[in-house]
Amino acid sequence: MLQIRRLKRNQVDEKLLSEINRLWLQLSPDSEPLTLARLKEIARQRFYCMAILKNRSEPAKIAAIGSIHFVRDFHGLIGYVNNVVVNKNCRYAGIGTKIEEHFTELAKIQGAKFIDATSNDKHAPEFWLKHGWQKRETNVFRKYL
Ligand SMILES: CC(C)(COP(=O)(O)OP(=O)(O)OC[C@H]1O[C@@H](n2cnc3c(N)ncnc32)[C@H](O)[C@@H]1OP(=O)(O)O)[C@@H](O)C(=O)NCCC(=O)NCCS
Repeated sequence: MLQIRRLKRNQVDEKLLSEINRLWLQLSPDSEPLTLARLKEIARQRFYCMAILKNRSEPAKIAAIGSIHFVRDFHGLIGYVNNVVVNKNCRYAGIGTKIEEHFTELAKIQGAKFIDATSNDKHAPEFWLKHGWQKRETNVFRKYL
């Protein structure tokens, strides 16, 4: 049985940090691991939700993570989904779908107009298409500072 939990600041500790880093580095192996300070900052944000899926039979282990944050813009409220990662040995068992459904429901409750996610070919674009997301014909630009 899996349980979705929201990341709460007072639950952030070294153990949770190392579990989240284990998954984060599966998604982004070249990135720096998160620090405790950064994870606390993340958890403090008002319009941010990090979902953590725990296995009830193995509560020390995290099966998956994902985040959504909301921004009010010209369109209205927009949700941004990021960092969805299911632990390697738990994939193709519907866990990613559970996170996607959780965020879609949350965004509807918040009154968001739409939700966005970025993906590349390495990162299972089929997963999003399968859940009713549409590919936008746009380029995403980034400037490193
Ligand atoms: C993408 C990811 C989150 C999907 O999670 P999951 O729990 O394995 O997905 P589900 O079991 O809910 O799969 C639902 C559907 O998505 C599709 N899918 C899932 N992973 C896929 C992959 N790697 N490639 C292609 N399609 C995939 C399948 O079609 C599956 O449908 P099916 O059961 O009819 O075959 C997971 O594979 C993962 O963590 N990948 C590495 C990180 C990543 O790419 N994250 C996305 C960030 S953009």
